[in-house]
Amino acid sequence: MEDLIQKAAEQLVKSKHAITLTGAGISTESGIPDFRGPNGIWTKNPEAERKAYQSYAKFQQNPKEYWKDRMAGASLLGDLTNAAPNPGHYALAELEKIGILKCVVTQNIDNLHQKAGSQRVLDYHGNISLLRCVSCDARFDPGEFHLDRLLAEDRLPPLCRKCNGVLKSDVVHFHEAIPMDVAQESQEQAEKCDLMLICGTSAVIYPFAYLPRIARQRGTGKKTIIIEINADPTPLTEEGISDYLIQGKTGTILPKILEEVKKRREGK
Ligand code: APR
Ligand code: ZN
Repeated sequence: MEDLIQKAAEQLVKSKHAITLTGAGISTESGIPDFRGPNGIWTKNPEAERKAYQSYAKFQQNPKEYWKDRMAGASLLGDLTNAAPNPGHYALAELEKIGILKCVVTQNIDNLHQKAGSQRVLDYHGNISLLRCVSCDARFDPGEFHLDRLLAEDRLPPLCRKCNGVLKSDVVHFHEAIPMDVAQESQEQAEKCDLMLICGTSAVIYPFAYLPRIARQRGTGKKTIIIEINADPTPLTEEGISDYLIQGKTGTILPKILEEVKKRREGK
């Protein structure tokens, strides 16, 4: 693994537009379960996954009931308010700060990249700390809407300050379209990058899993370097979409890569 860490550091230092794609695997060391790993939420409770596929239809049929359920029940991922970034998140934020990483495209809704200091984050599956208007995609801080009072006065769902459309959690449910702004920007990043670092995702959920394939087909002559960091091989590994897999924990591997990058930058 050490030689692959050296190789990744070398390639990151030489890259012109490196980005990273992340999944639930980067947050497991913050105590947030992933979905399909050995202790994953779906692995342990397939019924919960089946129900999750119905959430968006429920919202569309009856936004008021969707909101009542949401306010009554805890999030599948547990209480995320006190979740803290781990060394993997901090290493990615530092790689952005020293000008190596240009963007994080994450499937995670936990806001941990932002808490770790990453500035350029695309929340591909939304962000649990925001509400989003289903008509105009405007996003708001939930604190602006006094949701408990709306519930008590039977005035749910909250409505958009801009267009009066219905608001829902920014979290993207199965069968729900990825918000246009994030989808567009993520695709552009995948087309533009000359290095893609894919951390802690099983890469089985689309359209996110198209992004590495878009990078693989980048037409501008130069081959994009695609590196995976994951506890296990994924379809990207098996199909040769990634150039190589550094197998292990993101919380261990990413700080080592950062250290090697810094040594090279300081000419050591
Ligand atoms: N370090 C590296 N890899 C890890 C770690 C870790 N500490 N912990 C788990 N992993 C790996 C797992 O082995 C697995 O391959 O991370 C991957 C996590 O995959 P999933 O649980 O499928 O999570 P993700 O790919 O983000 O799921 C995508 O599915 O249910 C939807 O919307 C949900 O955004 C989620 C999407
Ligand atoms: Zn709106």
